Amino acid sequence: MSAERGHWSSRVGFIMASAGSAVGLGNVWKFPYVAGDNGGGAFLIIYLGCVLVFGLSLVMAELAIGRVTQLNPAGAFRKLGGRGWAMVGGMGVLTAFIILSFYIVVAGWTLAYIVFMAGNTFGGLDVEQNTAIFTQFVSSPIQPLVYAAVFTLMVIGVVLGGVSSGIERASKWLMPLLFILLIILAIRSVTLPGAGEGVAFYLMPDWSRVTGATWGGAVSQAFFSLSLGMGAMLTYGSYMSRQQNLARDASMVVGLDTLVALLAGLVILPAVFSAGFEPGAGPGLTFMTLPAVFAEMPAGALFGSAFFVLLAIAALTSAVSLLEVVVSYCVDQKGLSRPAATIGAGAVIFVIGIPVSLSQGIWSDITIAGKSFLDLADFITASVMMPVGGLLIAVFAGWVMGPRAIEALKSHPDQALPLAGLWLFILRFVAPLGIAWILIQGFFF
Ligand code: TRP
Repeated sequence: MSAERGHWSSRVGFIMASAGSAVGLGNVWKFPYVAGDNGGGAFLIIYLGCVLVFGLSLVMAELAIGRVTQLNPAGAFRKLGGRGWAMVGGMGVLTAFIILSFYIVVAGWTLAYIVFMAGNTFGGLDVEQNTAIFTQFVSSPIQPLVYAAVFTLMVIGVVLGGVSSGIERASKWLMPLLFILLIILAIRSVTLPGAGEGVAFYLMPDWSRVTGATWGGAVSQAFFSLSLGMGAMLTYGSYMSRQQNLARDASMVVGLDTLVALLAGLVILPAVFSAGFEPGAGPGLTFMTLPAVFAEMPAGALFGSAFFVLLAIAALTSAVSLLEVVVSYCVDQKGLSRPAATIGAGAVIFVIGIPVSLSQGIWSDITIAGKSFLDLADFITASVMMPVGGLLIAVFAGWVMGPRAIEALKSHPDQALPLAGLWLFILRFVAPLGIAWILIQGFFF
């Protein structure tokens, strides 16, 4: 693989696969409950600001670094910045491991919900009963782990297939379907009785609810959703060809990801209010709410199982990009064969996933700093490691590469990039200072 490095077979293939990496559980599972937790409307605006300022600039930076080096993150940073910087790449590999350890667990819930939906488990049930079904399932010791294992095997299968045949083919057809289904669901959700209050909660900013935590939540959600700050986008950029218009393609990926998150919020939050749930109910919110939406639709069981199939596939394409970070590192830097790296890493991730899954049930008493293993893995990666990684990548592109970063962004030497100066300014000043400020106030206030 290091000798004949794979390449995307087309521009659309790259965009779909990158959007496939970005669009995942972060959009449909995480975004609605984080928005709900943080008071809705004002969070939404702050989130959009973070995406536009930090997110887009960093997606472009990661893709440019990957493309110009054609290497994995650790190799890329070492080549351009020397040994010390290779640590940023190494940290990314560790981040990917930790994210995957809870990602496979939540993705396993998604697989389980395909089965529940198809079996019409939720027909005619009320909010309390939906909640009880969710809680009972995630807290049982064995069943969620079986689903997590199935999901892990699927991820390994796709990664073993290689870049073009496996990842691209899976992403290209199914993501548009998920998108269409989300639009249908959003229409159903906002027209449910009592949904208006939820629409207002989601879209009308209430600035009195904004705290330091709102900013921290928005930044970490933006990083998580855009697969940023740990080299996933960098790795995908390393499979890009020089001719591709990087700034334009990056904007497409960021736009698609954000659109899906916005839609998911518009599906979940109005339904939450219509059914009398609490928007701050936490990680179970999507799983507890969606069955109530499907119950109000004709052929709800069919739509419901189709939806969770597509969500599982969105999760799969994201998990694939995470595992790809680990695998390309092991292959390029450690000389392992691709199959050995894939299967080995997959096995380790599943083993770390065991305590994460059990933390929702029999091990729920074990908390560190008040967080279950699942919350802890999520917090350490999305709220600490990824923003710190993003900050370092911004400093790297802005200061270590400097004008060379602009060259790396171009698809040919005399391409005119009118906003390149602004981009460099954001990477040099706005992103490092902004992210540092948000991290510090998240910790201390
Ligand atoms: N962005 C994905 C999501 O929203 C998760 C993800 C995939 C990810 N690859 C990543 C997060 C790399 C961080 C880094 O579900």
